[in-house]
Amino acid sequence: MSGTGWELVDLLARWVHVIASIMWVGNSLLFNWLDRNLEPPKDAAPGSLGEIWLLHSGAFYYVDKTLLGGRPLPKPLHWFVVQAMTTWWSGVVLLIAVYWAGGRAAMTDPGVALLSHNQAVMVGIGAIIGGRVLYEAMQRLVAPRAPRIATAVWVAGLTAIAVALTQLLSGRAAFLHVGAMLGTLMALNVASTIVPSQKQLVASIAEGRAPDPAVSARAKRVSIHNNYFVFPVIVLMISSHFPTVYGNRLSWALLLILIAAGVAVRHVLNIRYTLRAWPALLAATMVLGLISLYSVIRLGSTSAAVAAASSPDPVSFADVRSVIDRRCTACHSALPSDRSFGAAPGGVPFDTPEQIESRAARIHDRAVVSRTMPPANKTGITESERELLRRWATQR
Ligand code: HEC
Repeated sequence: MSGTGWELVDLLARWVHVIASIMWVGNSLLFNWLDRNLEPPKDAAPGSLGEIWLLHSGAFYYVDKTLLGGRPLPKPLHWFVVQAMTTWWSGVVLLIAVYWAGGRAAMTDPGVALLSHNQAVMVGIGAIIGGRVLYEAMQRLVAPRAPRIATAVWVAGLTAIAVALTQLLSGRAAFLHVGAMLGTLMALNVASTIVPSQKQLVASIAEGRAPDPAVSARAKRVSIHNNYFVFPVIVLMISSHFPTVYGNRLSWALLLILIAAGVAVRHVLNIRYTLRAWPALLAATMVLGLISLYSVIRLGSTSAAVAAASSPDPVSFADVRSVIDRRCTACHSALPSDRSFGAAPGGVPFDTPEQIESRAARIHDRAVVSRTMPPANKTGITESERELLRRWATQR
């Protein structure tokens, strides 16, 4: 398929992906909120577990949470599965269009590891499948008897996979594939555990017997995990906008901080119903997350900063222009010779001196500090050329 074809696949899949994920996450956050705000039943029929009144779009809604208390199953009965599945398959299409086949972003980075594109794709797919197999094995085989051991093993295993990806793939692809691994866990938790347990509940109520407690316990466990995965997955999905983070030398630590911060913020929001001081705790958690990110970013860029302190002679613009022409304008031009990303990727052409001058700071960020340009060093920029760009950008 042509570059334009892949771009349109990317556009459509991304559009669907964002809408479906808003619906999925929105639903689950709403039900989470409902559960925590239920009032003891007053108006409800016998068998109620709690009730709540809501106001939305010009009318009042009354919700009664119940196991039906012997009444027949209501019809129609609505459940929410399509959103999760649509989010998942549109995500797979996006992975194919952007990373695996469409070539819209680099899987590899020779500065990280010398893998071929196909090897990197295998690593990415292997991580997603391996993460799922490990997690599911722990849920089914170990968690019913030893839940703490199961949690410790899958948390350690997924952490190891995440760190390994940052040592094998380009920073951007590593962050995205960790997000895809966690997102796949969430979607398959819905498909293979939560929905079957709901089906079992419906069947047991129809037959007038009690549901199997082991099945509902497993569903409860994985829905709590899903609740904590949401914020980390979202930040990893938008991480491709932040080359200073994914391109840092210590990207593995930044990745873990982002995940930990997402889990911690989710936790504060979960306990806010029982904790008066939650706004202060939320603010403290966010500030701590930001300080940790900032400190590790600084730590990971010390070598660049130390080099910057010893700037010798000024650099001429002509030298800079020739580096940019050789290493960047293949893509960054209104008429690119490398057409894989379309014209002027990121909205950035380097055809005129003004276009180059005005983007000195970003050129420095991408080609010197985070070293995420050229992608996978496709045009073979050398260390001394990066050094030249650094001196030019910092002498200004
Ligand atoms: C093989 C094609 C290719 C080459 C060569 C290339 N880039 Fe890029 N560049 C991209 C793509 C694709 C994007 C958009 C995706 C992204 O931001 O990672 C981009 C985005 C950018 C951006 C804008 C996004 C931002 O973070 O502000 C800058 C600046 C940039 N590149 C600088 C450079 C510099 C400097 C060079 C040469 C040293 C270079 N690029 C070489 C493909 C390329």
